[in-house]
Formats: sequence, structure tokens, C-alpha cells
Amino acid sequence: MLESLNDVYNLHDLKTLAEAQLERGALEYYSSGAMDGHTLSESTAVFSRLKLRPRVLCDVSSVDTRTTLLGLDLSSPLCAAPTAFHRMAHNEGERATARAIRQFGTLMTLSTLSNTDMEEVGLEAQGRWWFQLYVFRDRELTRSLVARAEQAGARALVLTVDTPRLGRREINVRNLFRLPPHLSIKNAGMQGWMPPASQGGDGLAEFVAAQMDASLSWKDLEWLRSITHLPIVLKGILTAEDAKLTLEHGANAIWVSTHGGRQVDTAVSTLEALPEIVEAVNGQLEVYLDGGIRRGSDVLKVLALGARAVFLGRPVLWGLACGGEAGVSKMLNMLQYELELTMALCGKNSLEGLKPDLIFRG
Ligand code: FNR
Ligand code: LAC
Repeated sequence: MLESLNDVYNLHDLKTLAEAQLERGALEYYSSGAMDGHTLSESTAVFSRLKLRPRVLCDVSSVDTRTTLLGLDLSSPLCAAPTAFHRMAHNEGERATARAIRQFGTLMTLSTLSNTDMEEVGLEAQGRWWFQLYVFRDRELTRSLVARAEQAGARALVLTVDTPRLGRREINVRNLFRLPPHLSIKNAGMQGWMPPASQGGDGLAEFVAAQMDASLSWKDLEWLRSITHLPIVLKGILTAEDAKLTLEHGANAIWVSTHGGRQVDTAVSTLEALPEIVEAVNGQLEVYLDGGIRRGSDVLKVLALGARAVFLGRPVLWGLACGGEAGVSKMLNMLQYELELTMALCGKNSLEGLKPDLIFRG
């Protein structure tokens, strides 16, 4: 029986402990996937099917996981993905996440749909954050979000491109998901509270349908470029075609994602999509990946296949639920330990050594 963070030895334990802590609406929102959950379950299962080819006698007396993302020095390639509503997990919410990440020395991505104003998070994160942008139908509101993010010290904008509508998460339709009334969508100002769904169903899906701009297209990247000097990362790319368009439209990095299996069910897993994207980009942009990362060996595989960093979604929420900042720190440190251990056991002492020959081709 898991009773506290002291009983937690890996991310699976952390998930189990979090499930016992969270209130039902929050738990079902955090864990849900779209439709039948195929892409969600594949996001973790796919890693166990890919086998490593460990090398030996390589002097792994010290193992270095340092890297850079868009020029920012990181202690490790483990970063936090944007997830909405951190205060449903812990009262300190996004501020606790920012502190844990700053301490760890990497970066977090703050969701547009956070329960904390980005200025407060910016103070805690001290430059170790990117802002995730949803484009509202109200372009002036969107423009002000971008200006505020720049002002508050975000190092990049992460434009989420896989959410013209919210995917159908039936558990959230059944439980009539809505944000608890004491919390709000802080960054969105006057529109920042979520009314109960008027037709029943998923209140967030209704909010997204009402507020977000489903007409967004490649040409809008020029608009975004014209209102910011920050690098632009496109999150939610799954094909070589869209990777090439990202290059053509001058975005600065690609984030391979299925949104944690919450948008298109039966979409290809990110691990399987990665090689064609890395090939299409041909070293011209940094490529990142999220989805289902739960063990250090998962990170090794992603980096060996050409991504520069991995981002963690639900594990951050589990950490928050199990103890706020301390829980997020524990999650990061457990995964970091596993990453260093697996690198050493595979004969790798730096991230530059992680190449496709680490993967068994059968
Ligand atoms: C998300 N994700 C997400 N993405 C985004 O761009 N903006 C957002 O506000 C959110 N919100 C959000 C809430 C919750 C509860 C989840 C689980 C996910 C997607 C997230 O950034 C990331 O792509 C996935 O979570 C990665 O998969 P894992 O690590 O959760 O398996
Ligand atoms: C989600 C949105 C907020 O996945 O991105 O719930």
C-alpha cells in the first residue's frame, strides 16, 4: 500500500498514489484519452516493443545529460509539457511546477489554460519556461497573451496545432467535466471562467468550441511571426508533410505529439512518427517529442531516434497531486536517475552518443 512519496520508487507508483489523492473529476480529466483510448494506450506500449542494443566497455564513470533547447542550457532533456489546470491537483499549481523545474534546471511549458497568471509563473520559473498558445477567435486577446508572455520572460511560444476542436473524451462527457468554480482560466481574463456546459457533456469541449479559432491555418503563422520576436515551436506535428510545411513557414522547432492520445484516436504513436519527421527536417530544426514517457529507457529511445528532448504531461500532474513541488521534483529525479543508469548500462556517457544504432532493427 502506497501512503506517501516515500513509498514511491517509479512513475507507476506515483500514478497509483496520485489516483488515490485526486478528486474524481480531476482524475478523470487528467487521465482521459479520446474515444476508445487506442492512441493513449499505444503511447506507453510502443516503448516496450522497441529494443535497445547496449554497448559495453565504454568508460561510463561519469554520465552527462546536459543539452540546450533553442539556446537555453538544460541539465537534462526532461522538460514539462503544457497541461491545463494544475490547481486541480495541488493548491500551488503551476507555481509549484515552475519551482520544481527551475530547481531541476530544465524548462516548463505553461498552458494558455493555466489556473495561475503567467506573470506569477514567470517570476517562479526565472526564464525556464515557454508559453503554450491557443489562438482565440478574439485575436486581440491572443495578441495580448503573446505580448504578456514576452514581457513575463517566456523564451519561446509553443503553438498547439492539433486542437481546432477538443477531442472527444467520453469520460469527461459523462461526468459533465467543468473547472471547479473556485478556479479559473487566469490568463484569459474576463473570459477566464468556464460556464457549465449548456448542453450537458464536456464543459471544456464547449469552451474550446466557443473560444478557440478553428479556422487557424498555415498562413496564420505569418501573423504570429509579425506580432512576436520569440521563437515559435509547433506542437502536434505527426507527419513528414507537416514537418516540411513547418520548415517552409519559418517556425523554429517541431514538437511531435498526439496530445497524450486526447485528440485523434488511432493516430500514429509519436515514437513511430518520429523517424519520418527527423528525416524530413534533416537537421534544420530541433525536434522534440512527448507522449507516454514513463521510464529512462523511453527517453533513450526517443533521443536515439533524433529528438533533442522529451516533455512530460501527466507525470507532472501526478507529482503535483502527491505533494506539489516535492512531488514534481521526485518525479523528475526518478526519471533522471533511470536515464543516467540506462545510459551507463548501454555504454553511453553523453547525449551526443545516442544514435539510431542504439535501436535493434530485427
Ligand atoms: C494536456 N495537453 C495539453 N497540451 C497543450 O498544448 N495545451 C494544454 O493546455 C494541454 N492540456 C492538457 C491537459 C491534460 C490533463 C493532459 C493529460 C494533456 C497535452 C500535453 O501537453 C502532452 O502533449 C501530453 O500530456 C503528453 O503525454 P503524456 O506525457 O501525458 O503521456
Ligand atoms: C486538453 C486541452 C486543454 O487536452 O489541451 O484537455
